[in-house]
Amino acid sequence: MTTANANSSAVEVLRRSGRDIAAAVIYLIAAVLLLLPVYEWLTNSYYFFLESREYALLLLNLPARLFALVGFVLMFFQFVLGMRLPAFEKVFSRAVNLKRHRALGKAGFILILLHGLMFLLYDYLVTGGLLFDPYRVVGMIALAVLIPAVIAAWHFKRLKLSRSTWRTLHLLAYVVFPLGFVHGRTLGVEFATGTWTVNALFSVLLAIYVLLLLYRLVVYLRG
Ligand code: HEM
Repeated sequence: MTTANANSSAVEVLRRSGRDIAAAVIYLIAAVLLLLPVYEWLTNSYYFFLESREYALLLLNLPARLFALVGFVLMFFQFVLGMRLPAFEKVFSRAVNLKRHRALGKAGFILILLHGLMFLLYDYLVTGGLLFDPYRVVGMIALAVLIPAVIAAWHFKRLKLSRSTWRTLHLLAYVVFPLGFVHGRTLGVEFATGTWTVNALFSVLLAIYVLLLLYRLVVYLRG
C-alpha cells in the first residue's frame, strides 16, 4: 500500500467515526427532546395522583373495565370468525373472515392484556400488593393461557413452530373464554350493579360458545 493510499484510508476511517459520533449526538439530542416533556408530565402526574388519588385510581379502574367488556365480546367474535362456519361463509368469504379474525384477535388481545395489567397495577396501588382471591386468580390463569395462544398465532413462522404445535397452542384460546366469563361474572361491577344488559348478553354469548364448541367437536369426530 502506498503512503498516499494509507493516508486516504485513514482519513476515511476518521470521517466514518466522525459521522458515527455526530449520529450518536443527534440521537441523544432527539432522545432528550422527547424525554424532557415526558419527565415533566410524569412528575406532574405523580403530584396530581398524590393530590387526588381516588380520582386517579378511577382513571385506571374505569378504562380497565371497559377494556375487559369489549375484549370479551371481541374474543367471542374470534370463535365465530375462526370456525369456518358454513352459514357464515355464505355471507362473508373465508378469506375475509380470517382477515378479520387476525385483526380483531390482535385488538381483543391487547384490550384484555391491558385490562389484566391495569388491574394488577390498580390492586397494587390500592392495597400495596397483589390480590390472589380465587376469582382474580382465574383471571390471571386465563391471561397466562391466552398469551402463548396468541403469541403462537402471531409468531409461528419466526418461532419455527410446526403446524400441529401452533394449532394446539392456539386452541388454548377456547379455555380462556369460559374462564374469562367466570372471572368477570364473579368480580365485575357491570355484572353486579348493571341492569340486565351485561349479564344477559354475556350469558347468551357463553351459551352460543358452548353450541359452537359442540358443533366443532362433531365436525372433528366426523373427520
Ligand atoms: C392478570 C389478569 C387479570 C386481572 C388481575 C383481572 C382483574 C379484574 C378485576 C379486579 C375485575 C373487577 C373489576 C370491577 O371492579 O368491576 C375484573 C373484571 C373483569 N375481567 Fe378481569 N382480570 C384479569 C384477566 C382477565 C381476562 C384474561 C379476561 C377475559 C378473558 C377478563 C375479563 C374480565 C371481565 C369481562 C370483567 C368484568 C368487567 C366489568 O364488569 O366491568 N379478565 N378483572
